Amino acid sequence: MQFPDYRPRRLRQSKQFRRMIRETSLGTDDLIMPLFAIGGKDVKNPVPSMPGQYQMSVDHLVKTVKEASDLGLPAVILFGLPDKKDSLGTRAYSKDGIVQKAVRAVKDKCPDIMVITDVCLCQYTDHGHCGIVDKGMVDNDGSLDLLARTALSHAEAGADMVAPSDMMDGRVGMIRETLDENDFTHVPVMSYAAKYCSAYYGPFREAADSSPQFGDRRTYQMDPANAVEALREASLDVTEGADILMVKPALPYLDVIYRIREEFDLPVAAYNVSGEYAMIKAADKMGWLDGQAVAMETLTAIKRAGADMILTYFAMEAARSLNA
Ligand code: PBG
Ligand code: ZN
Repeated sequence: MQFPDYRPRRLRQSKQFRRMIRETSLGTDDLIMPLFAIGGKDVKNPVPSMPGQYQMSVDHLVKTVKEASDLGLPAVILFGLPDKKDSLGTRAYSKDGIVQKAVRAVKDKCPDIMVITDVCLCQYTDHGHCGIVDKGMVDNDGSLDLLARTALSHAEAGADMVAPSDMMDGRVGMIRETLDENDFTHVPVMSYAAKYCSAYYGPFREAADSSPQFGDRRTYQMDPANAVEALREASLDVTEGADILMVKPALPYLDVIYRIREEFDLPVAAYNVSGEYAMIKAADKMGWLDGQAVAMETLTAIKRAGADMILTYFAMEAARSLNA
């Protein structure tokens, strides 16, 4: 069928027709809010490069999670800023670590929302790498046990799901095995399966104080030029027992989201990262674009590409606008 017999504009003429043929719908069910927990009381430090985001002590964090829950969000993901760092990232897996404390408080006060924890060592190591360092190299196998202990300590604190973001080979299997051996067979693993070595993480590293103190993360995070390799990464994680596959960042990697969605039958998550958030906020502040509209369009596009869920700093704002 061709013009003038077929006129695509016919079905665009009214809001109702547009609603009827809409292929993708974004809802509060799709969104996960990342939050940063820090020690102390009544602390709410704004993150300069992420307007609207804060490092929060547990009292404020609980209030924010309550709000997220009331907005209808199904889940939050927690990141921690420890009171001290060391070479082994000890505070990542200690019972009274910041994430463990935050999880216990949130699960106690906000029973209607799922608490996911990011599992990594970079916020907790003095060198800022996602694994332990041996002779100047990030030691893959030596890091696995610590990552598994971190995940287990989160589950023991009450985390509903763990999300390893370290990109060490074999960590999903090790975490799955450790959870299972300790009667946490019911705790799913959301794997950062295709996590790229991205400059878009800049603002997060300010928020989480997790910049590497030497070198970079190129030996463990993926090369932005590769997509087929993302399928290999994802299939490894599937074999090791991942429950959800994540692609990160989201907007510059829509092709990867699409390919993982096509190739695998697990739920797919996408992480709309700090730099994606910061760019929109900055342009909005300059008056160069309508930040709210661009954010909603971006989230819809990430869903259209194939994501079943989106981790995004826009989650609460978007929920407010979706509920309005
Ligand atoms: C830590 C981690 C990072 C992010 C989530 N977990 C940063 C990094 O790998 O340096 C990035 C999140 C964001 O930019 O919003 N492993
Ligand atoms: Zn890390």
